[in-house]
Amino acid sequence: MQDDIERVAVLGAGNMGHGITEAAAIAGYDVVMRDVDEDVLADGSEQIDWSVRKLAEKGEHDADPDAVLDRIETTTDLERAVADADAVIEAVPEKLALKRDVFTDLEEYTDEDALLATNTSSLSITDIAAATDAAERVVGLHFFNPPVRMDLVEVVYGEQTSDDTAERAYEFAESLGKTPIYVRKDVNGFVVNSVLGPFVEEPAWMVSGDEATVEQADAAMVHERGYPMGPFELSDLTGIDVAYHVREEAGKPIPPVMEDRVEAGDLGRKTGRGYYDYEGGEGATYE
Ligand code: 3HC
Repeated sequence: MQDDIERVAVLGAGNMGHGITEAAAIAGYDVVMRDVDEDVLADGSEQIDWSVRKLAEKGEHDADPDAVLDRIETTTDLERAVADADAVIEAVPEKLALKRDVFTDLEEYTDEDALLATNTSSLSITDIAAATDAAERVVGLHFFNPPVRMDLVEVVYGEQTSDDTAERAYEFAESLGKTPIYVRKDVNGFVVNSVLGPFVEEPAWMVSGDEATVEQADAAMVHERGYPMGPFELSDLTGIDVAYHVREEAGKPIPPVMEDRVEAGDLGRKTGRGYYDYEGGEGATYE
């Protein structure tokens, strides 16, 4: 654990929020997970319970699962969640106006030494930080899904992020057992998603134009390139709606194959069906 951080608040209990909460609690931090929706909080808590026990059984951490779960509190009350937090990690949906509102409230409710981090994957840290008068203590802390399993974390500077803030965020990520990298330019997609983007984008247009199937595209990436998952299986994991909102927010055209799934409410694993069927079918079936 990091010396100057004991209590962490995670805002949002979706895939990223509950995963970050779990990773921080496994590392020994007291964590408050906050969501506006009681059902999302309950679902996130269930996922953590399942995951922390499963990873313990597999020997992937040596923390006592019950002690980890005891370190996690949940609430719908933002002020209560962040008032005593030494670090806040925001993981609410990828909508700039929403995130800016959250950061305006954070400035009011948090201690002036608290680290204010956003897990945004696609929005500008500078634009989010500008909703506060404390832009020097706002930083990007970009985890990857599933946060408890993925090693890399991007520590992203906004234009006014201080070195002290970025270093605290870097050390915090290290204290979770992660490998952080600094991203010093607040460019869209940061480093990882900029590199990954074409590998997800091109197949979505190919499938939309009937030039390839979902299964063929995934097989190509896994069997030829050696990736752990193909682009469609990965979208099912991260949430098709997440990619959809990112594109919408950036004013980018949306591939029909993505639009169709979002309209049908088939958002990936979390709804039981996305590009593949996880409830009635066999899940990703390109093997
Ligand atoms: N907690 C506990 N266990 C989990 C888990 C979790 N959160 N997620 C998966 N597992 C378990 C599964 O249940 C399965 O268990 P089983 O062995 O009993 O069936 C097991 O892990 C799967 O293990 P495997 O050995 O088959 O797979 P790996 O351990 O090798 O890897 C993976 C799983 C880490 C998810 C791997 O497939 C992977 O790296 N996939 C790519 C993920 C990725 O690229 N993420 C980044 C997405 S981009 C992003 O997040 C950016 C953001 O901005 C949107």
